[in-house]
Amino acid sequence: MYELDKNLIPLFSSNEIHARVKELGSEISEKYRHTHPLIIGVLNGSFIFLADLIRSISIDCDLDFIKVKSYKKTKSTGKVQLVMENSLPIKGKDVILVEDIIDTGLTIKFIRQKLLKSSPKSFSIASFLSKKGTHNLDFPIDFIGFEIPHKFVVGYGLDFEGKMRNLNGLYYMKND
Ligand code: IMP
Repeated sequence: MYELDKNLIPLFSSNEIHARVKELGSEISEKYRHTHPLIIGVLNGSFIFLADLIRSISIDCDLDFIKVKSYKKTKSTGKVQLVMENSLPIKGKDVILVEDIIDTGLTIKFIRQKLLKSSPKSFSIASFLSKKGTHNLDFPIDFIGFEIPHKFVVGYGLDFEGKMRNLNGLYYMKND
């Protein structure tokens, strides 16, 4: 199995990830305790993080998805394409956008701009990972699981050419 692949260097174990995701869930539940947020997951990468995160959230929330595409192998193409629209109304809602990783920041900028046009009451971003020194955004990432070095990572929903999403832990690839 991949976990034994010599080219994969462990970064965070499944236990470490679950402990951190629980903390994020508590923070979100506390901040949104007086409301009923709409959580929008960015497919595909965020699906495992999102599944764990919502089970760590103790308040009612609605759930929706949006799907975009921007990566070829390990590099951003620099162009973000919308593949699937979100479907629930956003107007007047407290929206939390859930992403797997912020690298160049292009994807999150693109989705944020698109969703803000629908006039949510508030808008925040929760990302499982953020790469250090790769983006310079003029808006905050409100909830971040881990800051990581500028390396290509796989596992816990994140893929390399569609593979390795099913690893429980997070790994970086030796040859990147
Ligand atoms: P950005 O637009 O450069 O911020 O990239 C965001 C998207 O690229 C993420 O949602 C991921 O799908 C993908 N991505 C960026 N870095 C990695 C990585 O290290 N591993 C796997 N996917 C990545």
